[in-house]
Amino acid sequence: IHVDWDAVTAEKGGYEHFMLKEIHEQPRAYRDTMLGRIDHANHQAVLPELKLSAEQIKNIRNIQIVACGTAYNAGLIGRTVIEQFARIPVENDVASEYRYRSPIITPETLVIVVSQSGETADTLAALREAQANGAHVLAITNVVGSSIARDADDVLVTLAGPEIAVASTKAYTSQLIAFYLFGLYLAQVRGTMTKEEVAHVLAAMEALPEQVEAMLGQADTIKSYAEQIAKHKHLFFIGRGQDYAVVQEGSLKLKEISYIHSEAYAAGELKHGTLALIEDGVPVISLITQEAVMEKTLSNIKEVKARGAEVLAISYEEHAAELLKSVDHVIVIPKTLPVLTAALSVVTLQLLAYYASLALGHDVDKPRNLAKSVTVE
Ligand code: AGP
Repeated sequence: IHVDWDAVTAEKGGYEHFMLKEIHEQPRAYRDTMLGRIDHANHQAVLPELKLSAEQIKNIRNIQIVACGTAYNAGLIGRTVIEQFARIPVENDVASEYRYRSPIITPETLVIVVSQSGETADTLAALREAQANGAHVLAITNVVGSSIARDADDVLVTLAGPEIAVASTKAYTSQLIAFYLFGLYLAQVRGTMTKEEVAHVLAAMEALPEQVEAMLGQADTIKSYAEQIAKHKHLFFIGRGQDYAVVQEGSLKLKEISYIHSEAYAAGELKHGTLALIEDGVPVISLITQEAVMEKTLSNIKEVKARGAEVLAISYEEHAAELLKSVDHVIVIPKTLPVLTAALSVVTLQLLAYYASLALGHDVDKPRNLAKSVTVE
Protein backbone atom coordinates (compact mmCIF):
# COMPACT_ATOMS: atom_id res chain seq x y z
CA ILE A 1 0.00 0.00 0.00
CA HIS A 2 1.20 3.53 -0.78
CA VAL A 3 0.14 6.27 1.65
CA ASP A 4 0.76 9.95 0.80
CA TRP A 5 2.25 11.63 3.84
CA ASP A 6 3.90 14.89 4.74
CA ALA A 7 5.11 16.09 8.11
CA VAL A 8 3.13 19.38 8.18
CA THR A 9 -0.19 17.71 7.36
CA ALA A 10 0.51 15.11 10.02
CA GLU A 11 1.27 17.83 12.58
CA LYS A 12 -2.08 19.47 11.85
CA GLY A 13 -3.73 16.32 13.18
CA GLY A 14 -6.58 16.30 10.67
CA TYR A 15 -7.35 20.03 10.92
CA GLU A 16 -7.15 22.25 7.86
CA HIS A 17 -5.01 24.82 9.67
CA PHE A 18 -2.84 25.02 12.78
CA MET A 19 -5.02 27.86 14.03
CA LEU A 20 -8.15 25.69 14.01
CA LYS A 21 -6.25 22.85 15.67
CA GLU A 22 -4.99 25.23 18.36
CA ILE A 23 -8.47 26.65 18.95
CA HIS A 24 -9.65 23.08 19.49
CA GLU A 25 -6.77 22.35 21.85
CA GLN A 26 -7.94 24.99 24.30
CA PRO A 27 -9.93 22.71 26.62
CA ARG A 28 -6.79 20.58 27.02
CA ALA A 29 -4.61 23.67 27.48
CA TYR A 30 -6.92 25.00 30.23
CA ARG A 31 -6.80 21.64 32.04
CA ASP A 32 -3.03 21.37 31.75
CA THR A 33 -2.45 24.93 32.96
CA MET A 34 -4.65 24.25 36.01
CA LEU A 35 -3.18 20.80 36.67
CA GLY A 36 -1.45 20.54 40.04
CA ARG A 37 -2.25 24.18 40.81
CA ILE A 38 -5.55 23.60 42.57
CA ASP A 39 -5.63 22.10 46.06
CA HIS A 40 -9.08 20.53 46.11
CA ALA A 41 -8.95 19.53 49.79
CA ASN A 42 -8.29 23.08 50.94
CA HIS A 43 -10.00 24.96 48.08
CA GLN A 44 -6.92 26.92 47.21
CA ALA A 45 -4.79 27.91 44.26
CA VAL A 46 -1.26 26.60 44.85
CA LEU A 47 1.77 27.92 42.97
CA PRO A 48 4.77 26.21 44.58
CA GLU A 49 7.05 27.31 41.74
CA LEU A 50 6.92 30.95 42.84
CA LYS A 51 9.85 32.41 44.75
CA LEU A 52 7.80 35.48 45.67
CA SER A 53 7.40 35.20 49.46
CA ALA A 54 4.20 35.81 51.43
CA GLU A 55 5.98 38.82 52.94
CA GLN A 56 6.75 40.24 49.48
CA ILE A 57 3.17 39.64 48.34
CA LYS A 58 1.78 41.47 51.34
CA ASN A 59 4.05 44.41 50.57
CA ILE A 60 3.10 44.79 46.88
CA ARG A 61 1.77 48.32 46.34
CA ASN A 62 1.22 48.24 42.61
CA ILE A 63 1.48 45.90 39.65
CA GLN A 64 2.50 46.74 36.09
CA ILE A 65 1.61 44.24 33.37
CA VAL A 66 3.78 44.65 30.28
CA ALA A 67 3.47 42.77 26.97
CA CYS A 68 2.80 43.06 23.23
CA GLY A 69 -0.13 42.23 20.97
CA THR A 70 -2.30 39.38 22.14
CA ALA A 71 -0.22 38.93 25.30
CA TYR A 72 -0.95 42.61 26.08
CA ASN A 73 -4.64 41.90 25.59
CA ALA A 74 -4.40 38.99 28.04
CA GLY A 75 -2.83 41.45 30.48
CA LEU A 76 -5.92 43.67 30.19
CA ILE A 77 -7.94 40.76 31.54
CA GLY A 78 -5.21 40.12 34.11
CA ARG A 79 -5.76 43.61 35.41
CA THR A 80 -9.51 43.15 35.96
CA VAL A 81 -8.86 39.80 37.65
CA ILE A 82 -6.12 41.00 40.01
CA GLU A 83 -7.93 44.20 40.91
CA GLN A 84 -11.11 42.29 41.71
CA PHE A 85 -9.50 39.40 43.60
CA ALA A 86 -6.58 41.05 45.37
CA ARG A 87 -7.51 44.76 45.30
CA ILE A 88 -4.03 45.78 44.13
CA PRO A 89 -3.86 48.65 41.61
CA VAL A 90 -2.70 47.43 38.20
CA GLU A 91 -1.48 49.32 35.13
CA ASN A 92 -1.12 47.86 31.65
CA ASP A 93 1.71 48.86 29.34
CA VAL A 94 2.57 48.06 25.77
CA ALA A 95 6.17 46.81 26.06
CA SER A 96 7.53 49.02 23.27
CA GLU A 97 6.31 52.11 25.15
CA TYR A 98 7.11 51.07 28.71
CA ARG A 99 10.84 51.88 28.83
CA TYR A 100 10.43 55.26 27.24
CA ARG A 101 7.85 56.63 29.64
CA SER A 102 10.14 56.41 32.71
CA PRO A 103 7.72 54.16 34.60
CA ILE A 104 7.51 54.74 38.33
CA ILE A 105 8.93 51.57 39.85
CA THR A 106 9.58 51.03 43.55
CA PRO A 107 10.78 47.93 45.45
CA GLU A 108 7.07 47.31 46.18
CA THR A 109 6.21 47.20 42.47
CA LEU A 110 5.58 43.80 40.92
CA VAL A 111 6.08 43.74 37.18
CA ILE A 112 4.40 40.94 35.22
CA VAL A 113 5.63 40.36 31.68
CA VAL A 114 3.48 38.16 29.46
CA SER A 115 4.86 36.44 26.38
CA GLN A 116 3.89 33.26 24.58
CA SER A 117 7.29 32.83 22.93
CA GLY A 118 9.38 34.34 25.70
CA GLU A 119 11.54 35.88 22.96
CA THR A 120 9.76 39.14 22.08
CA ALA A 121 12.46 41.81 22.03
CA ASP A 122 10.27 44.66 23.34
CA THR A 123 9.03 42.57 26.25
CA LEU A 124 12.53 41.38 27.11
CA ALA A 125 13.78 44.99 27.09
CA ALA A 126 10.90 46.01 29.38
CA LEU A 127 11.77 43.16 31.77
CA ARG A 128 15.37 44.40 31.98
CA GLU A 129 14.24 48.00 32.51
CA ALA A 130 12.00 46.87 35.39
CA GLN A 131 14.75 44.80 37.00
CA ALA A 132 17.29 47.61 36.63
CA ASN A 133 14.88 49.78 38.61
CA GLY A 134 14.56 47.24 41.40
CA ALA A 135 11.24 45.57 40.57
CA HIS A 136 10.57 41.88 41.05
CA VAL A 137 9.59 40.50 37.63
CA LEU A 138 7.21 37.61 37.14
CA ALA A 139 7.02 36.15 33.64
CA ILE A 140 3.95 34.36 32.32
CA THR A 141 5.24 32.43 29.34
CA ASN A 142 4.62 29.32 27.30
CA VAL A 143 8.28 28.48 26.66
CA VAL A 144 10.26 27.22 29.64
CA GLY A 145 13.79 27.75 28.30
CA SER A 146 13.09 31.12 26.62
CA SER A 147 15.11 34.31 27.22
CA ILE A 148 12.26 35.88 29.19
CA ALA A 149 11.83 32.76 31.35
CA ARG A 150 15.57 32.69 32.05
CA ASP A 151 15.88 36.37 32.97
CA ALA A 152 12.72 36.79 35.05
CA ASP A 153 12.81 36.51 38.85
CA ASP A 154 9.77 34.25 38.81
CA VAL A 155 8.10 32.23 36.09
CA LEU A 156 4.55 31.00 35.77
CA VAL A 157 4.48 28.61 32.84
CA THR A 158 1.36 28.21 30.71
CA LEU A 159 0.91 24.70 29.40
CA ALA A 160 -0.67 25.49 26.05
CA GLY A 161 1.83 23.34 24.14
CA PRO A 162 3.62 24.60 21.01
CA GLU A 163 1.69 27.27 19.13
CA ILE A 164 2.45 27.28 15.39
CA ALA A 165 -0.17 29.61 13.86
CA VAL A 166 0.96 33.23 13.87
CA ALA A 167 -2.40 34.21 15.35
CA SER A 168 -2.27 33.36 19.02
CA THR A 169 -5.26 31.53 20.47
CA LYS A 170 -4.54 28.83 23.05
CA ALA A 171 -1.58 30.80 24.41
CA TYR A 172 -3.88 33.77 25.15
CA THR A 173 -6.50 31.68 26.92
CA SER A 174 -3.84 29.81 28.91
CA GLN A 175 -2.48 33.19 29.98
CA LEU A 176 -5.97 33.99 31.28
CA ILE A 177 -5.95 30.78 33.34
CA ALA A 178 -2.54 31.77 34.72
CA PHE A 179 -3.94 35.18 35.72
CA TYR A 180 -6.96 33.59 37.43
CA LEU A 181 -4.66 31.32 39.45
CA PHE A 182 -2.21 34.08 40.29
CA GLY A 183 -5.01 36.50 41.22
CA LEU A 184 -6.51 33.93 43.60
CA TYR A 185 -3.08 33.21 45.06
CA LEU A 186 -2.53 36.90 45.79
CA ALA A 187 -6.00 37.12 47.32
CA GLN A 188 -5.33 34.12 49.58
CA VAL A 189 -2.07 35.59 50.88
CA ARG A 190 -3.48 39.09 51.32
CA GLY A 191 -6.78 37.87 52.77
CA THR A 192 -8.97 39.74 50.30
CA MET A 193 -11.26 36.76 49.55
CA THR A 194 -12.91 34.24 51.82
CA LYS A 195 -12.25 30.52 51.41
CA GLU A 196 -15.81 30.13 50.07
CA GLU A 197 -15.27 32.84 47.47
CA VAL A 198 -12.03 31.20 46.29
CA ALA A 199 -13.74 27.78 46.15
CA HIS A 200 -16.57 29.27 44.08
CA VAL A 201 -14.15 30.70 41.50
CA LEU A 202 -12.10 27.49 41.36
CA ALA A 203 -15.22 25.41 40.69
CA ALA A 204 -16.23 27.77 37.86
CA MET A 205 -12.70 27.60 36.43
CA GLU A 206 -12.79 23.82 36.39
CA ALA A 207 -16.02 23.89 34.37
CA LEU A 208 -14.44 26.04 31.63
CA PRO A 209 -12.83 23.25 29.54
CA GLU A 210 -16.15 21.44 29.08
CA GLN A 211 -17.90 24.71 28.30
CA VAL A 212 -15.35 25.45 25.56
CA GLU A 213 -15.89 21.94 24.16
CA ALA A 214 -19.62 22.66 23.94
CA MET A 215 -18.92 25.96 22.13
CA LEU A 216 -16.65 24.28 19.59
CA GLY A 217 -19.47 21.90 18.74
CA GLN A 218 -21.57 24.87 17.63
CA ALA A 219 -19.05 26.58 15.37
CA ASP A 220 -21.36 26.49 12.33
CA THR A 221 -23.42 29.49 13.47
CA ILE A 222 -20.23 31.50 13.82
CA LYS A 223 -19.02 30.32 10.42
CA SER A 224 -22.11 31.56 8.62
CA TYR A 225 -21.94 34.93 10.38
CA ALA A 226 -18.21 35.19 9.52
CA GLU A 227 -19.06 34.67 5.85
CA GLN A 228 -21.40 37.68 6.10
CA ILE A 229 -18.84 40.00 7.68
CA ALA A 230 -16.20 38.89 5.17
CA LYS A 231 -18.10 41.04 2.65
CA HIS A 232 -17.31 44.20 4.62
CA LYS A 233 -14.22 46.39 4.69
CA HIS A 234 -14.72 47.94 8.13
CA LEU A 235 -16.45 46.95 11.30
CA PHE A 236 -16.61 47.76 14.97
CA PHE A 237 -16.49 45.81 18.18
CA ILE A 238 -17.95 47.23 21.37
CA GLY A 239 -18.11 46.11 24.99
CA ARG A 240 -17.88 47.36 28.55
CA GLY A 241 -15.68 46.22 31.43
CA GLN A 242 -14.08 42.87 30.77
CA ASP A 243 -16.02 42.63 27.50
CA TYR A 244 -14.11 45.70 26.29
CA ALA A 245 -10.80 43.93 26.96
CA VAL A 246 -12.01 40.84 25.09
CA VAL A 247 -13.18 42.75 22.02
CA GLN A 248 -9.74 44.33 21.75
CA GLU A 249 -8.38 40.82 21.28
CA GLY A 250 -11.20 39.92 18.88
CA SER A 251 -10.45 42.99 16.77
CA LEU A 252 -6.70 42.25 16.66
CA LYS A 253 -7.38 38.65 15.64
CA LEU A 254 -9.73 39.70 12.85
CA LYS A 255 -7.32 42.33 11.45
CA GLU A 256 -4.37 39.98 11.68
CA ILE A 257 -5.73 37.15 9.58
CA SER A 258 -8.70 38.49 7.57
CA TYR A 259 -7.26 41.97 6.84
CA ILE A 260 -10.69 43.46 7.53
CA HIS A 261 -10.27 46.78 9.27
CA SER A 262 -11.88 46.82 12.68
CA GLU A 263 -11.77 48.88 15.82
CA ALA A 264 -12.66 47.88 19.34
CA TYR A 265 -14.36 50.52 21.44
CA ALA A 266 -15.51 50.86 25.00
CA ALA A 267 -19.25 50.93 24.27
CA GLY A 268 -19.77 54.20 26.14
CA GLU A 269 -16.97 55.94 24.28
CA LEU A 270 -18.47 55.66 20.77
CA LYS A 271 -20.57 58.77 21.17
CA HIS A 272 -17.40 60.82 21.68
CA GLY A 273 -16.45 60.69 18.02
CA THR A 274 -16.54 57.24 16.47
CA LEU A 275 -20.31 57.24 16.14
CA ALA A 276 -19.75 59.48 13.10
CA LEU A 277 -18.45 56.40 11.25
CA ILE A 278 -21.61 54.39 11.77
CA GLU A 279 -23.83 54.33 8.71
CA ASP A 280 -26.23 51.95 6.99
CA GLY A 281 -25.11 48.35 7.09
CA VAL A 282 -21.86 48.78 9.08
CA PRO A 283 -21.42 45.65 11.21
CA VAL A 284 -21.11 46.23 14.95
CA ILE A 285 -20.24 43.24 17.11
CA SER A 286 -21.25 43.78 20.70
CA LEU A 287 -20.01 41.55 23.46
CA ILE A 288 -22.57 41.93 26.22
CA THR A 289 -22.00 39.56 29.13
CA GLN A 290 -21.31 41.80 32.11
CA GLU A 291 -24.67 42.00 33.86
CA ALA A 292 -23.73 45.01 36.00
CA VAL A 293 -23.42 47.19 32.88
CA MET A 294 -25.79 45.38 30.53
CA GLU A 295 -28.43 48.12 30.45
CA LYS A 296 -25.77 50.71 29.60
CA THR A 297 -24.36 48.60 26.75
CA LEU A 298 -27.87 48.01 25.47
CA SER A 299 -28.43 51.74 25.20
CA ASN A 300 -25.14 52.04 23.24
CA ILE A 301 -26.39 49.28 20.93
CA LYS A 302 -29.56 51.30 20.36
CA GLU A 303 -27.42 54.32 19.45
CA VAL A 304 -25.66 52.42 16.64
CA LYS A 305 -28.86 50.69 15.51
CA ALA A 306 -30.53 54.08 15.14
CA ARG A 307 -27.72 55.04 12.73
CA GLY A 308 -28.24 51.96 10.57
CA ALA A 309 -25.67 49.53 12.00
CA GLU A 310 -26.18 45.78 11.61
CA VAL A 311 -25.64 44.50 15.13
CA LEU A 312 -24.50 41.09 16.34
CA ALA A 313 -24.73 40.58 20.09
CA ILE A 314 -22.75 37.87 21.86
CA SER A 315 -24.29 37.07 25.22
CA TYR A 316 -25.83 34.42 27.44
CA GLU A 317 -28.87 32.36 26.42
CA GLU A 318 -31.02 33.96 29.13
CA HIS A 319 -30.63 37.41 27.50
CA ALA A 320 -31.05 36.30 23.88
CA ALA A 321 -34.81 36.92 23.55
CA GLU A 322 -34.58 40.40 25.06
CA LEU A 323 -31.54 41.32 22.97
CA LEU A 324 -33.22 40.20 19.76
CA LYS A 325 -35.70 43.06 20.21
CA SER A 326 -32.81 45.47 19.59
CA VAL A 327 -30.20 43.63 17.51
CA ASP A 328 -30.07 41.70 14.23
CA HIS A 329 -28.30 38.52 15.36
CA VAL A 330 -27.41 36.87 18.65
CA ILE A 331 -24.74 34.25 19.32
CA VAL A 332 -24.94 32.65 22.74
CA ILE A 333 -22.09 31.48 24.93
CA PRO A 334 -22.21 29.30 28.07
CA LYS A 335 -22.66 31.03 31.40
CA THR A 336 -19.81 31.52 33.84
CA LEU A 337 -18.79 34.05 36.49
CA PRO A 338 -18.44 37.61 35.11
CA VAL A 339 -14.74 37.64 35.99
CA LEU A 340 -14.10 34.46 33.96
CA THR A 341 -16.17 35.25 30.85
CA ALA A 342 -13.17 36.12 28.69
CA ALA A 343 -12.08 32.46 28.66
CA LEU A 344 -15.32 31.60 26.86
CA SER A 345 -16.32 34.68 24.89
CA VAL A 346 -12.96 35.03 23.16
CA VAL A 347 -13.39 31.58 21.57
CA THR A 348 -16.34 32.96 19.57
CA LEU A 349 -14.18 35.85 18.36
CA GLN A 350 -11.28 33.53 17.46
CA LEU A 351 -13.62 31.40 15.34
CA LEU A 352 -15.11 34.49 13.75
CA ALA A 353 -11.66 35.68 12.65
CA TYR A 354 -10.70 32.20 11.49
CA TYR A 355 -13.79 31.69 9.32
CA ALA A 356 -13.64 35.25 7.93
CA SER A 357 -10.05 34.65 6.85
CA LEU A 358 -11.02 31.30 5.37
CA ALA A 359 -13.94 32.84 3.45
CA LEU A 360 -11.58 35.44 1.98
CA GLY A 361 -9.05 32.81 0.95
CA HIS A 362 -6.15 34.15 3.01
CA ASP A 363 -3.23 32.20 4.40
CA VAL A 364 -4.73 31.72 7.86
CA ASP A 365 -1.62 30.39 9.59
CA LYS A 366 0.86 32.77 8.00
CA PRO A 367 -0.73 36.19 7.52
CA ARG A 368 1.13 38.71 5.40
CA ASN A 369 3.81 40.93 6.97
CA LEU A 370 3.79 39.09 10.30
CA ALA A 371 6.13 36.72 12.12
CA LYS A 372 5.34 34.35 14.96
CA SER A 373 8.08 35.71 17.15
CA VAL A 374 9.12 39.37 16.93
CA THR A 375 12.76 39.58 17.97
CA VAL A 376 13.44 43.15 16.80
CA GLU A 377 12.50 46.31 18.72
C1 AGP B 1 -1.00 37.38 18.22
O1 AGP B 1 -2.01 36.85 17.46
C2 AGP B 1 0.05 38.08 17.50
N1 AGP B 1 0.66 37.27 16.53
C3 AGP B 1 1.00 38.95 18.30
O2 AGP B 1 0.27 40.04 18.72
C4 AGP B 1 1.74 38.35 19.53
O3 AGP B 1 0.83 38.07 20.54
C5 AGP B 1 2.82 39.33 20.00
O4 AGP B 1 3.77 39.49 18.99
C6 AGP B 1 3.47 38.91 21.30
O5 AGP B 1 4.13 37.68 21.18
P1 AGP B 1 4.63 36.91 22.45
O6 AGP B 1 3.43 36.53 23.26
O7 AGP B 1 5.36 35.74 21.92
O8 AGP B 1 5.52 37.85 23.23
